[in-house]
Amino acid sequence: MMSLTIRAARPGDEKSWRDLWSGYCNFYGTVLAPEVTDRTWQRILDPESAVMCLIAEVDGQVYGFANCVVHEATWETQPVCYLEDLYVLPSARGHGIGGALIEWLRHAMRAEGWARLYWMTREDNTAARRLYDRHASADGFVRYVVRQK
Ligand SMILES: CC(C)(COP(=O)(O)OP(=O)(O)OC[C@H]1O[C@@H](n2cnc3c(N)ncnc32)[C@H](O)[C@@H]1OP(=O)(O)O)[C@@H](O)C(=O)NCCC(=O)NCCS
Repeated sequence: MMSLTIRAARPGDEKSWRDLWSGYCNFYGTVLAPEVTDRTWQRILDPESAVMCLIAEVDGQVYGFANCVVHEATWETQPVCYLEDLYVLPSARGHGIGGALIEWLRHAMRAEGWARLYWMTREDNTAARRLYDRHASADGFVRYVVRQK
């Protein structure tokens, strides 16, 4: 993969991010209300928000993103980083972009003083888990969810 750059999202990435975000939602079979996507993009650009987005770019073209939330944690004195969404354009997979986004976050963890970086995925997401197993260990926690509606 030539000249891969990982960087924070900028206003000019909106179209590329929205296209990839749409692919990510399709991957999960999810249809989000447009206002949710709008709000997520707004928060990504808002320096006061805990939401941030990394963009993976090759020769000026955006191929992937990682959306994260940095938050407080009761088991740590320092903030922690939750990698909430990770996506690479299907045609660009298998070239190390997903791994590079995770590596960038590992470095940011040290630079920013986050106590930990964590993420979760579906048990049967074998492609993602192959990648994740090279970067971290699953800790066996199971997620329970209660929804308002
Ligand atoms: C998971 C995902 C982000 C990985 O991105 P990526 O850029 O392909 O990641 P990498 O190239 O760094 O590593 C991918 C691994 O999958 C394998 N792979 C190879 N070709 C592949 C392909 N065409 N498609 C998918 N995976 C491939 C590679 O073998 C690699 O593992 P290896 O280095 O041990 O061989 C990407 O597959 C994706 O966007 N999937 C759909 C969304 C998703 O599942 N997101 C994670 C949800 S938590």
